[in-house]
Amino acid sequence: MSRGFPYTPYPNGWFRVADSDEVEAGSIRAVQYFGKQLVVFRGEDGIAHVLDAYCAHLGAHLGVGGEVVGNTIKCPFHAWRYDGDGNCVEVPYARKIPPRAKVHAWTMCEKNGMILVWHHAEGKPPSFEIPDVPEWGSQEWSPPQRRSFKVRAHCQEMAENVVDDAHFKFVHQVHSMPQSTAEIDGHIFRVVSISKVGTPRGETEGRIEIASHGLGFGLTRFTGVVEMLVVISGAPIDEEYSETTLRFMVKKLANEEATRGVGKAFIAEIERQFGQDIPIWENKIHLTRPALCDGDGPIALLRKWARQFYSETPAEPALERPGQDPL
Ligand code: FES
Ligand SMILES: [Fe+2]
Repeated sequence: MSRGFPYTPYPNGWFRVADSDEVEAGSIRAVQYFGKQLVVFRGEDGIAHVLDAYCAHLGAHLGVGGEVVGNTIKCPFHAWRYDGDGNCVEVPYARKIPPRAKVHAWTMCEKNGMILVWHHAEGKPPSFEIPDVPEWGSQEWSPPQRRSFKVRAHCQEMAENVVDDAHFKFVHQVHSMPQSTAEIDGHIFRVVSISKVGTPRGETEGRIEIASHGLGFGLTRFTGVVEMLVVISGAPIDEEYSETTLRFMVKKLANEEATRGVGKAFIAEIERQFGQDIPIWENKIHLTRPALCDGDGPIALLRKWARQFYSETPAEPALERPGQDPL
């Protein structure tokens, strides 16, 4: 079900598969991403690992009844144990471990309170890293509040939304259309968006800076009236559904109550907008040759940037719109 999307639903890059606090030491979490069953487990040493879920012996699901033993995961069926690299380290009733006793271990990193895996269609190693978010854990910022959404759309459709200036007016009823400028900085797509924001003291300019590190991780910083940050992470669940998790943080104001109030309004507004986008995303098709106009944001540039995250050769023709570089 590609709905016109010319690429795989599983782009290359870093994608979040769990939050750190969902996987305590000695515990296992079964998840589904990239159309696969995976297990995330944390050894007694505190190090997290991500493995394909099915045991190499007879295919039991390691996350259903399995347990963490030391720094290994034990299969619930015949008690074979695997280390964090997916190697079988014990078959309790055999003298020799069969050479095929191995499950795929994902390249992962744990940063900013989340566990991410590197996905690459050709199995190539990471070509970039996820940055540390300086606001994360800072005393000057409110602790993150999390919201997750499961949407029947390709993750790139959602990425396109941030540079789609016109939809802010017509989908979100934002009274003035933001003006976005964007640039490709290697694997990072940077957007600066200026919009008018109404405040009790009149209209002021709000500035939004977005840095997308591939299609699975992004940072959106709001400045102007108050400073706010949304850490966006996501992953394709299967060929139809994607998951997006937003973490909201607010730079603390003079008093706690004001910070809480701003945070609450901020989350409510983004949730409202996300809710408005969902029916569009879930029912649209992807046009490889859209009829873009000069008032549209840098959608074509985003598509040009996003191409680097697909292993397959693009089949689509070049795309142009007035005043913008062709793809
Ligand atoms: S299926 Fe896992 S040990 Fe047999
Ligand atoms: Fe939107």
